Amino acid sequence: MIEKPDFQKILISPSLLSANFSKLGEEVAALERGGADWLHFDVMDGRFVPNLSIGIPILESLRKVTRLPIDVHLMIVEPDSLIDAFAKAGADTLCVQIEACTHLHRTISHIHDAGCRAGVALNPHTPLDGLKYVIDDLDFVLLMSVNPGFGGQRYIPSVTRKIAELRAMYPEVAIEVDGGIKAATISEAARAGANIFVSGTGVFSASDYGAAISELRMLAAH
Ligand code: DX5
Ligand code: ZN
Repeated sequence: MIEKPDFQKILISPSLLSANFSKLGEEVAALERGGADWLHFDVMDGRFVPNLSIGIPILESLRKVTRLPIDVHLMIVEPDSLIDAFAKAGADTLCVQIEACTHLHRTISHIHDAGCRAGVALNPHTPLDGLKYVIDDLDFVLLMSVNPGFGGQRYIPSVTRKIAELRAMYPEVAIEVDGGIKAATISEAARAGANIFVSGTGVFSASDYGAAISELRMLAAH
């Protein structure tokens, strides 16, 4: 199992959703050379979100070509039925959407039993209250800063306040933020208390991924 993310350490997790899928292996190699900490792997089922993306066979293929931790974000209904398969395919973290989980504590235990770090993601409108009785079992919390389903959307400003509230409630929890994170928005999310940053178009729209990752890391640190 990878180490539990430290709330004081900045991690940049580029979202593969914005990669060129016709040369995914090369894209991953470029991110690795460019200093990415994690690879964010967005799974969509056409039910929890109105879109489809990538799944188990692609994860299996990527696992063979990278040593970076693969940060799997399950935007799917009934995630329990696929946790073991994603763990076996090479996920290092598995993050489920709180809105999709009826028995959240059981789901988190299942993720740990499968050998992965466990995260819970909250949509922009979802209150923080649901975290209260599971916070000690979690390895990180993911706050969505767009409505999930598509890359390239605009950061929702009210999420900054939500990050700050979560940081104040749980000073030592690792907070991942996902959606619309780029050079123009990362500082505000970082100052509010986020420390793990997903960025899709923010990295892939750059001609030099390494330069984009370094810039995001620098902006998050200041
Ligand atoms: C949205 C996904 C995100 C998305 C981020 O549903 O969960 O990970 O790919 O892409 P950008 O950074 O372009 O908003
Ligand atoms: Zn995501």
